[in-house]
Amino acid sequence: MTVTLSLNGRLVRPDEASVPALDRGLLYGDGVFEVLRAYDGVAFALDAHLDRLCTSAERIAMRLPVAASLLQAEVHAALAAAGPLDAHVRLLVTRGVGELGVAPGNTRDATRMIVVTPLAPASQNAYVQGIRAIVARAPWLAGPGPTAGAKTLNYLANIAWSREAQARGAGEAIVVGHNDTLLEGATSNVFVLHGAELSTPPLDAGILGGITRAAVLAVAPALRVSARERALTLADLLRADEVFVTSSVRELVPVVQLDDHVVGEGMPGSVTRALHRAYRALTPAAGRAMPWE
Ligand SMILES: Cc1ncc(COP(=O)(O)O)c(C=O)c1O
Repeated sequence: MTVTLSLNGRLVRPDEASVPALDRGLLYGDGVFEVLRAYDGVAFALDAHLDRLCTSAERIAMRLPVAASLLQAEVHAALAAAGPLDAHVRLLVTRGVGELGVAPGNTRDATRMIVVTPLAPASQNAYVQGIRAIVARAPWLAGPGPTAGAKTLNYLANIAWSREAQARGAGEAIVVGHNDTLLEGATSNVFVLHGAELSTPPLDAGILGGITRAAVLAVAPALRVSARERALTLADLLRADEVFVTSSVRELVPVVQLDDHVVGEGMPGSVTRALHRAYRALTPAAGRAMPWE
């Protein structure tokens, strides 16, 4: 696979790139990141991703080493080097090197990296038939923690949930916290449809403010779908007529089974599909065939 790598503003070969061994990103996962999608080499919602990167950095009291405008130019340069691909773009910034010890103190030499990889052809099946998701219980998650809403390099819980989903042959893990509160997917946000009413958990549940989630909430009214953020439970998930998850890379993915429970008719729902079309119309891939076509 061809990987295009920009390290601290320079395009370098991945096998020749090196980062400081004592970087806190490596020692503690002390840093922030973004994942966005490019369509034919054109980044989608880059400004929103850069805004969220800045917010994530603020939440962990980390200063970005360069201005967002420079990061933006570096993303464009990496994409230009990669060519007109549908690509997965990872942008990360660490807190850099400091005194050893958990408290950061003074740090220097932050690492910033942009990794562009061709998007693995999404399994079309996921869009044609929908996916099965597992329900991952995380009863220790009781409201927002100190890094809630920040996309930090510390993704171990998400990795554990994704591993469990993969081990059980499922396409996503949907996480349920304390008191059966519905939260989000391991790498996605979750929406449920009851009748004509679409809902998604609120940000104060401690979830990531997904950029795809925000776009879906924005396009819903034009489809006469009433969409709102509200506190939801596992029971709300299980009685939904349609369920889908959202992320920049996978867009909208219908969920047709939750563990052994079949959602609605067990097929991707018409509202999910209509919302997906409306979302696509916002992207540089507007007008392309939809992934289930
Ligand atoms: C935990 C989590 N929630 C939600 C999302 C979806 O966010 P976005 O739509 O901005 O890609 C992601 C994306 O990776 C995620 O990791």
